[in-house]
Amino acid sequence: MKLIGPFKQVVTLSHLPLRGKLSDEQLEIIPDGGILIQNGKILHIGNFEALKSENQNIEIETVEGEQIVLPAFVDSHTHICFGGNRANDFAMRNAGKTYLEIAENGGGIWSSVLHTRNASEEELLKTLVERINFLISLGITTIEIKSGYGLDVENELKMLRIIKKAQEQTKATLVPTCLSAHLKPRDFEGTNGEYLNYILSKILPKVKEEKLAKRVDIFIEKSAFQPEESKEFLLKTKDLGFNITVHADQFTSGSSRIAVEVGAKSADHLEATIDEDIAFLAKSDTVATALPGASLGLGEKFTPARKLLDAGAILAIASDWNPGSAPMGNLITQASILATFEKLTTAEVLAGITFRAAFALGLEDRGRLTEGFKADFVTFKTSNFQNVLYNQGSLKAENVYVDGLKTN
Ligand code: NIG
Ligand code: FE
Repeated sequence: MKLIGPFKQVVTLSHLPLRGKLSDEQLEIIPDGGILIQNGKILHIGNFEALKSENQNIEIETVEGEQIVLPAFVDSHTHICFGGNRANDFAMRNAGKTYLEIAENGGGIWSSVLHTRNASEEELLKTLVERINFLISLGITTIEIKSGYGLDVENELKMLRIIKKAQEQTKATLVPTCLSAHLKPRDFEGTNGEYLNYILSKILPKVKEEKLAKRVDIFIEKSAFQPEESKEFLLKTKDLGFNITVHADQFTSGSSRIAVEVGAKSADHLEATIDEDIAFLAKSDTVATALPGASLGLGEKFTPARKLLDAGAILAIASDWNPGSAPMGNLITQASILATFEKLTTAEVLAGITFRAAFALGLEDRGRLTEGFKADFVTFKTSNFQNVLYNQGSLKAENVYVDGLKTN
């Protein structure tokens, strides 16, 4: 048993509902608090001095200076296993070039596929672990990571095996997702439907056999996969036993509806979701995931987070960190900016990057400082937890804990 504290404020996020809007008055903030830990789990949260006197002869980890503590963050949507860099895409886009012109100049998702296919496993693993470590430094200890830059059996498996290897090198929880349906690769001879069948018959059985991922994602969009073929594909992946998540309504609406209909764990992006579909999503258990990093990377509008919450949806916020549309990778900065544009309360943002994001990944043991939950938390050197979002990512995390142990 170990007691950590005292913390100026322990923001537990306990008792907050899974869905819908939240006011900051609903936040439980324990002043001068302590966290009692046993076997990597939270045993009790309460007043530090009281916990200390009630539990004699236990290890005490004293917190120096004024610090606050929050549940560690969850990034439920990333593409951080990739080779190469798309800085030229970014510059061209900002110089007014179109999607097509960028693709013709060797940019776009396809260029990341070529770079990822050509990268050595060592290089991919090294850069992936560096990105994971960056995310941990922000206070993120659960990270979803997609394939989707391999787009054939050999290279999709290569990506997922590297993600599995990265898990051996980090204390963070990595959640792999198979995104072979990111785009029909240019070297695939056949239709979209044939490529989706190729994923179903050639890639997913191997993913299952090697236990490389339990989740499948698809990019439903005019430039990628069409609604009907995607729905058929998703229902078949479900039959194979996979959980589903969808890149939905990024530029055109309609696909979040499919995500709900097939029972997806989450529908991510939603920048173009229309009011009618917001209502549909809000009635479901499909988590609506805003990806402000993609809005910032592309100069597109933000996901209608306010409307989603008001309608009663489960709103998560994730970074979408990828080399093309979302190169920043700083979820805290992005979530803070989303809050200013969408008028989100601190409670709504914190819920969106903790237990609501965890729910999207099917993980209900984390994201709150509650008895029995995983002892993953992040501390900041400040006396007021509001400073974390107020500083828009420039207040650095002091210590990041996984299973009750410091990662740094
Ligand atoms: O989530 N929208 C599709 N896929 C990614 C972009 C990937 C890329 O551009 O490499 C996204 O934004
Ligand atoms: Fe994405």
